[in-house]
Amino acid sequence: MSVRSSSAPRSLPAKTQPSPAETPPALPSARILGVETSCDETAAAVVENGRAILSSLVASQVDLHAQFGGVFPEVASRQHIRTIYPIIEGALQQAHIGLSDIDAVAVTRGPGLPGSLVIGVNTAKGLVLGSGLPLIGVNHLEAHIYSAWLRWPPLPNGMGESEALSPEPRFPLIVLIVSGGHTELILMTDHLKYRRLGATLDDAAGEAFDKVARLIGLGYPGGPSIQKASQGGNPRAFTFPRAWLDDSWDFSFSGLKTAVLREVRRLQEQGRSLPVANLAASFQAAVVEVLVGKTVRAAQTLGAAEILVAGGVSANQALRETMLAQAPCPVHIPPIDLCTDNAAMIASAGYYRFIAGQRDSLGMDVLPNWPLSEV
Ligand code: KG4
Ligand code: ZN
Repeated sequence: MSVRSSSAPRSLPAKTQPSPAETPPALPSARILGVETSCDETAAAVVENGRAILSSLVASQVDLHAQFGGVFPEVASRQHIRTIYPIIEGALQQAHIGLSDIDAVAVTRGPGLPGSLVIGVNTAKGLVLGSGLPLIGVNHLEAHIYSAWLRWPPLPNGMGESEALSPEPRFPLIVLIVSGGHTELILMTDHLKYRRLGATLDDAAGEAFDKVARLIGLGYPGGPSIQKASQGGNPRAFTFPRAWLDDSWDFSFSGLKTAVLREVRRLQEQGRSLPVANLAASFQAAVVEVLVGKTVRAAQTLGAAEILVAGGVSANQALRETMLAQAPCPVHIPPIDLCTDNAAMIASAGYYRFIAGQRDSLGMDVLPNWPLSEV
């Protein structure tokens, strides 16, 4: 297990004041403890006013699952049980606060692996039962979107570099969520208001990266290993299909995956060693071209003010660079460590739900297949 952490400077407990350059906060002030256990990361974070990260801890189980070539649900939930309390305690300690300084506990309610979700939800229920704090169940996809609202604490020299780098997204936004389980194109007209334009008809983009990585002999998780292998490859070495699906906003990656499989088989039958870098680069180029092409067209067609890209695959360098180069408007993509699963994004979405009045009961159950459209 490896733990990634980030925290605010030591002297933080008083609530941070907005810098003069920032518009005055029209929204209520609140500190939210976020808890995330939807898949194979156990995470906790404290976020203030939906944006300022006071602490963020992520315990990754990737090493445990690598031997299986994917997430093994039973192993994931056992590991969450072992890790969740130390991670929550660590997040509070790193923010230099206790539960009494928190205004609400937000936890991922779904979508995700049932046995993993239930560990986070039950732990959050225990915390609110003991403390009397409000409980907020958060949709994991909505949380990925809110990762673009987050910002790191100001630098120790007082320079708000991260603020300058991450102005608040402006509506209407075209949102592309690309993760291991989902690929969705969304029109977001205001906080918490979404219209789904399209989604994948088969594999999610991250799933395609993971499956193709396995096909060409690369390790899990496939996204980072394909990105790395692509660096030495020619993206035009193989002409893999792009599923544009005419005028629809939907996506499809299974044909592309099959095309890679066919190429691999053909090369193997000829007794040739796999040109892994070229296969990886050509596959990545095909995915990126469709993701960027559809997102840019949606932004133009629907007159979006800005584009937001989130989810694990938004960590992909080629996707980030191509989107920035081709977008007709400003683009928000979270910093790499906020693209993959974390609890700061759960706390951020939880804040916007909290100020909208959402309060969940102790009877709240997990929702392993919870679409964003039903939030
Ligand atoms: O959002 P996430 O951490 O978990 C889900 O909610 O699914 O996304 C995980 C997915 C995995 O499929 C992983 O291969 C992919 O994100 N991923 C990447 C990169 N980093 C992670 N895909 C492409 N390029 C990357 N650099
Ligand atoms: Zn995720």
